[in-house]
Amino acid sequence: MAQHSEDLFKSVISHAKEYGFIFPSSEIYDGLSAVYDYGQLGAVLKKNLRDYWWKSMVQMHQNIVGIDASIFMHPTVWKASGHVDAFNDPLIDNKDSKKRYRADVLIEDYVAKLDAKIQQEVEKAAKRFNPFDETLFKSTNPRIQEYLAKRLNTMERFKTAMESNDLNAVRDLIIDLEIVCPVSGTRNWTEVRQFNLMFSTSMGSVSEEASTLYLRPETAQGIFVNYLNVQKSGRLKLPFGIAQTGKAFRNEIVARQFIFRMREFEQMEMQFFVKPGSEMEWYEHWKTKRLQWHIRLGLGANLYRFHDHVKLAHYANAACDIEFNFPFGFKELEGIHSRTDFDLKQHEQYSGKKLQYFDSETNQHYTPYVVETSVGLDRLFLAVMSASLKEEQIEQDTRTVMQLPPFLAPYKAAILPLLKKDGLPEFSMTLLKSLQPYIELFYDEKDTVGKRYRRQDAIGTPYCITVDHQSLEDSTVTIRYRDTMHQERMHSTALLAFLTQNTGMATVLQGV
Ligand code: GAP
Repeated sequence: MAQHSEDLFKSVISHAKEYGFIFPSSEIYDGLSAVYDYGQLGAVLKKNLRDYWWKSMVQMHQNIVGIDASIFMHPTVWKASGHVDAFNDPLIDNKDSKKRYRADVLIEDYVAKLDAKIQQEVEKAAKRFNPFDETLFKSTNPRIQEYLAKRLNTMERFKTAMESNDLNAVRDLIIDLEIVCPVSGTRNWTEVRQFNLMFSTSMGSVSEEASTLYLRPETAQGIFVNYLNVQKSGRLKLPFGIAQTGKAFRNEIVARQFIFRMREFEQMEMQFFVKPGSEMEWYEHWKTKRLQWHIRLGLGANLYRFHDHVKLAHYANAACDIEFNFPFGFKELEGIHSRTDFDLKQHEQYSGKKLQYFDSETNQHYTPYVVETSVGLDRLFLAVMSASLKEEQIEQDTRTVMQLPPFLAPYKAAILPLLKKDGLPEFSMTLLKSLQPYIELFYDEKDTVGKRYRRQDAIGTPYCITVDHQSLEDSTVTIRYRDTMHQERMHSTALLAFLTQNTGMATVLQGV
């Protein structure tokens, strides 16, 4: 695949559409911004990723259980959680283009441009730019010095303005940096305003009785409000976890970068309830565990890094992101947060119900602390797809291959009769019928076998099984490996064990 990261990103988007992984939502009506539909292959890949997460969390841990809470929740939930008052983005409009932007993103983009300029200078010295690299500050290159000083100053002003919620200072910074609207090219900006990210709707048929509801902006609150129900009905003892996957909705203003930032997306969250005082130990535990889980996908350990939060949300006493090297750079893939007892205490206060845990060992009642792991399924999908999609030069030709981890591939193998005659399709169909209760298979008898191989490479099928005339005589078939293109003969009765062993999830789960 194109090596330039922007080209790679474009290739991922067009490949996703061409092969039925992801389509723009309501495309015949010109689409709906930042909303996407998963196609026939995307839905399976997404399901396999969800299964990997669910099994790692629930099946592999005796003290973690899974639930499925509703998207609609009592409106007071969002008051208690702080989302009604504080789940905001700072917005600014350009008066000439009438386009709306996130003020913080305009500044971040400015910093990214500075970084690119520094990178250019650093590249001359054949090094990779790292903003935390101390030696850069000792550089004698005047341009590097100028850009670094600008970067430092911008970041300091930005941080102070955001931390003190000083929206005028954010606007002043945009003006001072001479940031222009990409559409109109002017600096004719409005004031900066806070904009709540929750979507609202109403419940009830009669307007006077209708109450405002929100589409949940995170799945976590469905876990908090059910924590005591689950603990009591499951007779769970601390420490224990509750896992959940499901849709979340945010009215993102800067909705771009394909499925990286969507308005409707899916989260996979686990709240781990622990004894107060033990939360930092568990925070470190889950940090290590979650990174290991990502690395087990086999995409390359160098594609991940931690980003520890310096400025913590008021309810957290530690937080970090696992970042992934997307085609547009390292960005957040998963968040790990030590949320203290903030959420449970807030729900106790707003509901008036006790949510304390009774510790039978110490004979005490207390509110557990919570360590949360939260990963976006769509972001994970994008990470897997962009790291797997490759373009390879083979002799005079190129081939597009998606080197998906085999256990995630939508089809584990394709069954291909060499010819559409002489009893080969019949033999192939019998083989398909015997294997398909166990393994996801694709059957294809159209085109030359070479073209069929290429199509399977492009959708990430790890193995192609070709049925030829010899198969009719001795029941052997050819098995072709996606990544090496190596072929070997195998008895058809050995296929089930081979495919289960090489494309199943069990081996991967053993390491998480
Ligand atoms: N309960 C904690 C929470 O929601 P978050 O950092 O806001 O934390 C967690 O979200 C994860 O959800 C992110 O790391 C990201 O993977 C995913 N996510 C958040 N907003 C998203 C969006 N607009 N589109 C796609 N994924 C998103």
